[in-house]
Parts: sequence; structure tokens; C-alpha cells
Amino acid sequence: MGIAATIREPAEGLIFQGKNSVEPILRTENLWKLYRAGKVEVPALRGVNFAVQPGESVAVMGPSGCGKSSLLYVIGGLAQASRGKVLVDGNDLSELSDSARTKLRRHKIGFVFQRFNLLPTLTAKGNIAIAQFIHGDGFDPHRFDVVTQMLGLAGRLHHKPSELSGGEQQRVAIARAIINEPKILLADEPTGNLDSKNSEIVLQMLRQLNRDLAQTIVMITHNPEATTYFDRVVHMRDGVIVDGVAAD
Ligand SMILES: Nc1ncnc2c1ncn2[C@@H]1O[C@H](COP(=O)(O)OP(=O)(O)O)[C@@H](O)[C@H]1O
Ligand SMILES: [Mg+2]
Repeated sequence: MGIAATIREPAEGLIFQGKNSVEPILRTENLWKLYRAGKVEVPALRGVNFAVQPGESVAVMGPSGCGKSSLLYVIGGLAQASRGKVLVDGNDLSELSDSARTKLRRHKIGFVFQRFNLLPTLTAKGNIAIAQFIHGDGFDPHRFDVVTQMLGLAGRLHHKPSELSGGEQQRVAIARAIINEPKILLADEPTGNLDSKNSEIVLQMLRQLNRDLAQTIVMITHNPEATTYFDRVVHMRDGVIVDGVAAD
């Protein structure tokens, strides 16, 4: 793949990044996230330096509780950093007002979660198209066709979520997340509720979105198969990234 990634010891100031040639689309600098639990502060992130290049697909792995979701929420602007910087497409999230940060998130980030969170009364098509009406420039039939075909949904568009398999529902959720062409797709254990066959299909499709549409993806996963589908795997432990190895 020609990815210039390095294995490094965790140390302050080092940035774990892959494809090296251009300005990262996403970058964190000494990122901390503390949660307050009563009088105690729980450090979920303890100085994360992380960079993702445009068009890269990165899988984040690590034991439960090591800070993976916190990292995803902070870089996606869903939670605020306690210390340090997050730069999304050159924008420092900490310098933006709440409304500017929300706007940036809607335009530049797509989210997928373990739960599909589809609207039960709408069809698959409705669930995807509504995102174009709410946060996009209105219905774009070409983009809709490209995305739904790539996700293998062409024959399922008129079904409601309850009539779709888990794998199909997650593919609808992915279509919804990327329909407005976000710069970055963030996925928190998207195969966590799927059987192994559907997990593999979803991973294959994410790889295809990355390769054919140059979709930048950061995905949290426990699935060891991810290493074969993504450019790079980074490992987290106790609130820091401990390595960032090119996957192939
Ligand atoms: N809202 C919260 N309030 C207090 N502690 C939290 C909160 N969210 C996460 N944590 C704690 O932060 C740490 C990291 O959690 P998380 O980012 O969810 O890890 P992971 O996704 O790797 O399982 C854990 O110790 C968790 O208990
Ligand atoms: Mg998590």
C-alpha cells in the first residue's frame, strides 16, 4: 500500500500517523479527556497524539474501558476535550463556538454506532434521504444511487428497519452517515451487534467505500478481521495510543 507508518513507543509529542504526504484531515495534540465521577476525576484520554490522512482507513483496537469511544466522541465533536487540541480539516474544535462546532460536525463528520438508531416508521430510503434533507443540500439522486448500490441496498430500499436484517440495518445507517459526503466517517464498533457473516460484509463494504469513494474512516472494533480490511490499526491502552502499525 506504500503507507509510511511507523511503530513507536508511546511518548509525549509523538504523533501516530499513516500516509505521510499531505496535511492530516484529522489531528489531535496531547488530547486529554477527564470525566468527573463525584469528587473523582476519571482520565479516559491521557495525552493522545493521533493523525489521520485524507483517504485513510484506520481501525482502533484496545481493551474495554481504554478510551476508544471517548476518543471518537471528542474527535467527532460530540464531547469536549479537557485539554489539548483536535483539528478537523484544519479547524481547531476548541476555538469554535458550540453552534460552529455543531455545524462543522454536521458537514464534515458522519457517525455510525453499534446500535443502528434508524427511525422505525421510515423505509430504508426514507432513513437515508432524510439526512440529505436535514443536513445536506436536499435530495441528490446520483449520490443516493452510488451510496446505496455500493452498500448493497438497492433491493431493500422500500423496507422498514423491522423488515431488514441487522447487517442490512447497519448498512442503511452507514449510508445515512455518508450520504452528505462527510470528510470523515467515525464508527464505534459498527459490527458489535452483528454475526460473523454480516460483520464481514460490513467490513468489506467499508473497505470499498474507502477505496472507491476515498472515504476517510476511523473505526473502533474488537474484530481481528479488521486488520485485513483497513490501511492501519492503532492500539489503545489506558487512555493513550501505544502503536500505529500499517495493516498491509
Ligand atoms: N460519561 C462518563 N462518565 C464517567 N466516566 C466515563 C464516562 N464515559 C466513559 N467513562 C470512563 O472512561 C473510561 C474510558 O471509557 P470509554 O471511552 O467508553 O472506553 P472504551 O470505548 O474503550 O470501552 C472508562 O474508565 C469509563 O468508565
Ligand atoms: Mg466504547
